[in-house]
Amino acid sequence: MIKTVRGCKDIYGEDAEIFRKTENVLRETVRKYGFKEIIPPVLEYSELFERSVGEGTDIVEKEMYTFTDKGGRSVTLRPEMTASVARAYVEHHFETMPSPLKLFYIGPCFRYEKPQKGRYREFYQFGVEVLGDESPLLDAEVISLAYEVAENLGLENLKVRLNSIGCKKCRPQYKKVLQEALKPHYDELCEDCKRRFYTNPLRILDCKKEKDELKNSLPKITDYLCGECKEHFEKVKKYLDMMNIPYELDNTLVRGLDYYTKTVFEVVSGHLGAQNALLGGGRYDYLIEELGGRHTPGLGFAIGMERLVEVMKAQGSEKGEEKLIYIAYMDGLEKNAFSVASIIRNAGFTAIIDSKGGSIGKQLKHASKRNASFTVIIGEEEAEKGTVQLKDMKKKKQKEVEIEELVSEIGGKNA
Ligand code: HAM
Repeated sequence: MIKTVRGCKDIYGEDAEIFRKTENVLRETVRKYGFKEIIPPVLEYSELFERSVGEGTDIVEKEMYTFTDKGGRSVTLRPEMTASVARAYVEHHFETMPSPLKLFYIGPCFRYEKPQKGRYREFYQFGVEVLGDESPLLDAEVISLAYEVAENLGLENLKVRLNSIGCKKCRPQYKKVLQEALKPHYDELCEDCKRRFYTNPLRILDCKKEKDELKNSLPKITDYLCGECKEHFEKVKKYLDMMNIPYELDNTLVRGLDYYTKTVFEVVSGHLGAQNALLGGGRYDYLIEELGGRHTPGLGFAIGMERLVEVMKAQGSEKGEEKLIYIAYMDGLEKNAFSVASIIRNAGFTAIIDSKGGSIGKQLKHASKRNASFTVIIGEEEAEKGTVQLKDMKKKKQKEVEIEELVSEIGGKNA
């Protein structure tokens, strides 16, 4: 038997339904904020991620699906989509569009990580990016959008983790201070952190292997921010307070991608393990420039769709089950069955016309197997009168209804 590739999965049944319903809520929410869709390719030149996500990061160092194509070029299955959006911005001169430019995307990403619950090698991200504005008001708006998106899906037990990781001016100074403070503890560090000590000491702060005691004793980045970063962060917090968005300051939140500057944030859910954020994002004011564009500040976030589905299931918030209407009919009344099905479908419900045939009793059994909410029964007598029999499968009650009344009897238009 040929199985799925390790870390990849088929999404089907209830999961597929929740996935698509959730996607629709996400699309509808961001549309109201003025976001337009971008659909970048799954395959990019490897250099894009090396230069944006960063060569010293776990993603680029260990997790990318990279190979040489038949033309001898190094290409990579994207591990995330912010880099692709930034590449597209430069490549297609999006700077000529009204700013700030608001884009959203949904698509598969690939990371060669150790598969476990909530962590896959192929996963879907839904994300937004706002390009061309450095106002802290946008940071607060993007964080509140992330929060609203999760709330619109009925998610409970959410926490926003917030931090500022400074900019090109102040971060190098903090790195030195951090290295100094870590030096006496170098031997206690895990193998990865020993390497990070030289390449990217900030990442030691969010390494799960290091002791909290050590991490809590280290200098805090927010005490080393330059004037501009400090003022920016103060304003972000002030706006979030005005918007009544609850957040927790977390100095150990540094994120695993190199392009971030100033604000970084994650939304975590009590239903996921502590290591797995539901969504993550932040500001990246130099990314477009580093990819050859003009100075264009940007920010955004991305949600992991599989994690979202897991939280929805754990909470049981995938309520609003689809109503399925089964159509049973006597031989020769196919035309009536087609027309009833189209009335039901136009009202937004799922209609399935029996295809196995047999007596009405047999067709009702097919309907039960399908878990139908109602069965519409079309008999000769009813067909002549312009009526049908409507059977409520849960209450096991049946009555004759006019075709015009059918939709309201089933329960009005389906949202
Ligand atoms: P990220 O934190 O690496 O950020 O990923 C964002 C989200 O993708 C995570 O919070 C998680 O839900 C999901 N995710 C990541 N890796 C996996 C995995 N192996 N399995 C399942 N889900 C996963 C970014 O990718 C940034 N591009 C976000 C961003 C957008 N920043 C600014 N704009």
